[in-house]
Amino acid sequence: MSDGHAREFGLDRGKVFPAANARSLLNPLRRLVQSARRTVAAAAFEPDARVLELGCGPGFFSPWVARATSGTAVLLDLQMEMLQLARDRVRDQDSAVLVQADGTRLPLASSSFDGVLIATVLGEIPDHDGCFREVHRILRDGGVLAVAETRRDSDFIKLEDLKALVEPRGFQFVAKRGIPWQYVARFGRV
Ligand SMILES: C[S@@+](CC[C@H](N)C(=O)[O-])C[C@H]1O[C@@H](n2cnc3c(N)ncnc32)[C@H](O)[C@@H]1O
Repeated sequence: MSDGHAREFGLDRGKVFPAANARSLLNPLRRLVQSARRTVAAAAFEPDARVLELGCGPGFFSPWVARATSGTAVLLDLQMEMLQLARDRVRDQDSAVLVQADGTRLPLASSSFDGVLIATVLGEIPDHDGCFREVHRILRDGGVLAVAETRRDSDFIKLEDLKALVEPRGFQFVAKRGIPWQYVARFGRV
């Protein structure tokens, strides 16, 4: 890869979650422990915000992201097979636009988004500099970066570690909702 970071697919820590296992992310039992509705609500995007969901996978959160805004919801993932599943889940929602891309090289205009949601994805992206540089670039000043993490994910990142990753890269911590092992953290772009 041109960014110098190797990409491996698999279920272990640091590997890209394979589309072959996508159905497990949509398992109805997941809803019992991680509510997609409450997670997206905790991001507290403005009702007309233009929002990017980075690493949407098969779209567990995507219908709620699309419903949360009357603006556009861009659902982006590295894997086309993931996007095909996500598309089925937002079929009836006009605000949703699907994009296949790498989160470290976003084909999106600068300062064109009000909010970004990254849910259980960050641990799969070794190039944090590239990812946050791009998220910072596409967010407008004062835009919201919401990061959802759960210990159920092998790539779980503790809040203190997340802050240490995000804050030096042009974001300021605003608030956290949830408990230590499953939370949504909001950062403002500065
Ligand atoms: C564990 S899944 C989570 C999917 C979804 N957010 C959820 O919680 O159900 C991680 C997703 O991030 C995507 N992903 C990993 N690295 C990525 C990258 N560099 N750019 C874009 N998407 C990436 C994977 O393809 C996968 O769909």
